[in-house]
Amino acid sequence: MKEKIKQLKKEKKAMIFAHYYAPSDVQEIADCVGDSFNLAKVAKESDAEIIVFCGVSFMGESVKILCPDKKVLVPDMTADCAMAHMVRDGVIEEMRAKYDDLAVVCYINSTAALKTKCDVCVTSSNAVKIVKALPNKNIFFVPDRNLGSYVAQQVPEKNIILNDGCCPIHAAMTEEQLLSEKQKHPEALVLSHPECEPYILKHSDYIGSTAGIINYAKNSPAKEFIICTEYGVEYQLLLDNPDKRFYFTDPRPCCNDMKFNTLESVLSVLEKENNVVEVDDETRIKALVPLDRMLSLAK
Ligand code: 13P
Ligand code: SF4
Repeated sequence: MKEKIKQLKKEKKAMIFAHYYAPSDVQEIADCVGDSFNLAKVAKESDAEIIVFCGVSFMGESVKILCPDKKVLVPDMTADCAMAHMVRDGVIEEMRAKYDDLAVVCYINSTAALKTKCDVCVTSSNAVKIVKALPNKNIFFVPDRNLGSYVAQQVPEKNIILNDGCCPIHAAMTEEQLLSEKQKHPEALVLSHPECEPYILKHSDYIGSTAGIINYAKNSPAKEFIICTEYGVEYQLLLDNPDKRFYFTDPRPCCNDMKFNTLESVLSVLEKENNVVEVDDETRIKALVPLDRMLSLAK
């Protein structure tokens, strides 16, 4: 299967992009593996005619919005991010009516329709930098309350209003689970994704995006780490650091939708060129504004 995928990629000038939560064998055959920010950035700069995006729907949509001339295929059209939908209809309009100078900051884990109503997108790797750079005092941060409250702590000069959305996978980790790992591995550093609840973040030695966690582990002299995010990052962590040990909370956090991206489904979309991501022109043009603003403010 891997050989067939390689051959088809070459024939069709296709590139495979995979998020760090995709299954290991898919990360292995991908041309680019990254966090959501890096994948969007590299996709925009790439000259591939076809991009097979192994992630969840908001990621494929973002690439289509940034690169409308490319054919963006996804191995499974049903792979979705629950948090992307956790903003109540009408709430953005209500907030805008309440605050004159409001900036609506939209985590990239959101639908294209939601992005059309927002001023700027962020990812976990650039949210603090971008919110700091905004001239507005009042910020409505959607959809993730946990990334939003982490940003609020880092940027105390802003009034950050939170929306009550979260990632069910990160929110399922409990403090007891983490404390139990800490007890078993007292020397281990705790590296967490900002989508975790505050009771996890308060025990963390480092908080950052999936790529941030991977880079931190690589550059740290420490030998043991408790990783508070989805277990797919383990593949890259072990590739980079065969001499280090990585532990996860028990049960290991798993984003089932990310695991829909199998080798079989990658081969099948490459063969059939089906599962094409489409975003209607009006949505695409409006959603491009906050995405482009993110790319320029993150520089
Ligand atoms: P990253 O941007 O850190 O890769 O996170 C995306 C995500 O969905 C985390 O749950
Ligand atoms: Fe969405 Fe959570 Fe899965 Fe990330 S881990 S894609 S936030 S459901």
